[in-house]
Amino acid sequence: MSEGSSLLPLMLFLPFLLVGMREGVHCFEEVNVVNLKKFQWRDVNHVSSCQPQKSRKEKGVTMLEMKHRDYCSGLVKDWNKKLQKHLISDDLRVQSLQSQIKRADSGRTEGFSEAQLPLTSGIKLQTLNYIVTVELGGKNMTVIVDTGSDLTWVQCDPCKSCYGQQDPLFKPSISPSYQSVLCNTSTCQTLQLATGNSGVCGTDQRTCNYFVRYGDGSYTRGELGRERLDLGGTVMEGFVFGCGRNNKGLFGGASGLMGLGRTKLSLVSQTFSKFGGVFSYCLPSSEADASGSLTLGGDSSVYKNSTPISYTRMISHPQLLSFYFLNLTGISIGGVALEAPGFAQGRILIDSGTVITRLKPSVYGALRSEFLKQFSGFPPAPGFSILNTCFNLSEYEEVNIPTIKMHFEGDVQVNVDVSGIFYFVKSDASQVCLAVASLAYEDQVGIIGNFQQKNLRIVYDSKQTRLGFAEEICNFT
Ligand SMILES: *[C@@H]1O[C@H](CO)[C@@H](O)[C@H](O)[C@H]1NC(C)=O
Ligand SMILES: *[C@@H]1O[C@H](CO)[C@@H](O)[C@H](O)[C@H]1NC(C)=O
Ligand SMILES: *[C@@H]1O[C@H](CO)[C@@H](O)[C@H](O)[C@H]1NC(C)=O
Ligand SMILES: *[C@@H]1O[C@H](CO)[C@@H](O)[C@H](O)[C@H]1NC(C)=O
Repeated sequence: MSEGSSLLPLMLFLPFLLVGMREGVHCFEEVNVVNLKKFQWRDVNHVSSCQPQKSRKEKGVTMLEMKHRDYCSGLVKDWNKKLQKHLISDDLRVQSLQSQIKRADSGRTEGFSEAQLPLTSGIKLQTLNYIVTVELGGKNMTVIVDTGSDLTWVQCDPCKSCYGQQDPLFKPSISPSYQSVLCNTSTCQTLQLATGNSGVCGTDQRTCNYFVRYGDGSYTRGELGRERLDLGGTVMEGFVFGCGRNNKGLFGGASGLMGLGRTKLSLVSQTFSKFGGVFSYCLPSSEADASGSLTLGGDSSVYKNSTPISYTRMISHPQLLSFYFLNLTGISIGGVALEAPGFAQGRILIDSGTVITRLKPSVYGALRSEFLKQFSGFPPAPGFSILNTCFNLSEYEEVNIPTIKMHFEGDVQVNVDVSGIFYFVKSDASQVCLAVASLAYEDQVGIIGNFQQKNLRIVYDSKQTRLGFAEEICNFT
């Protein structure tokens, strides 16, 4: 990012400056330099196996290395197809989120239960992108991280129907620390809130059977158990999890899922006495070799943030208890504040499972036109899936693009990392799109996707109901 010696960016930059001055707008104070060659997929194609992710403990905080899921997904033959698929699934997830919010808002509770919550967890939708490794009953398990659902589960042996995974299946029968959760216990009853389906007694009238349906046919079914969970050296005895005997869906090669939602059964709640209800993550860029971290515990001195953490209010929805909402008060592009009626309405969802940020049409429209004004003179390229602001930059080595800042209640400003502004549809940069999309309707709720959360330390502090942001180059070591 410091190849300031290249003349090209300066030459590209001059015309903006002139236009900016002519219009009397100070548009161009804030720019990012993007090296277009850096984003090629070439290296990613070589990844074909996944090793367990690392972990460590520091000042009572557990840190788990976090990788993009593509790290485990093997050889990719057709990136274009894969990307297209990613975005289509992303849209399905967003539609499902919107219909849930709408339902909850309209107070139509008949037929509504928390059951629908996991529908949004996007497993089937292939949008849950980040994995960590934990030790369950002494065995390494690589699981997908989901902030939108609560029950943590792994596939168990003997298995009635399991998808292929990289690690060996978990075998409760040979683990001395494994215990069944009985169906007459209050723990079994917490399933209702966590998954929407109440726990039911097995045929033996003892075990507590759970069923989580993630919509469109994807599910996990099995019984609740308690097991020793080692999170990077912090051990929790009797952690309640799902032992999945019948699981279906696109979980990649992962052993299961870690639920970081907000109800009683979630990992955050179960580990409250150890970590105080605080976790944070730093999402690496999608390059397969990049690693980030998931930390559990509130001592912020272990983070490697380069700017102070600033906190905004975490807003809860009375019906959608697992979701983390924020009050987005504005967006600025290259230092220019956008004007749009859709700000400060007290609700934008921050989601680790949605990829591309969705904005209300009025906000997206303002963002697009300001971006085009500042990033002008580049050949346009056709839109791609949900993305409609695209350029052909194949002739350029490097370009300057305006910064994007999100503003939240409490005077919090979040600078979107440069890797989160452009989506490279074609690796030769002949189709590069602004990685933000419009919602269909003004009354839908915006979503901050994980593409715009990269290289940020994002702290979820449920105890103080606040969410913090700081800049950090994600790196586990
Ligand atoms: C789990 O993986 C880590 C990292 O590769 C390794 O050091 C550790 O020995 C493994 N633990 C088990 C029980 O296999
Ligand atoms: C649950 O059932 C078991 C026997 O299956 C019994 O020993 C235990 O006391 C029961 N617990 C409660 C809370 O009813
Ligand atoms: C969002 O924050 C703004 C600025 O602090 C405030 O004026 C507005 O009332 C907030 N909106 C809601 C719904 O809380
Ligand atoms: C992009 O621009 C280059 C150079 O001008 C051109 O050769 C190429 O055909 C364009 N590609 C697309 C997909 O438009």
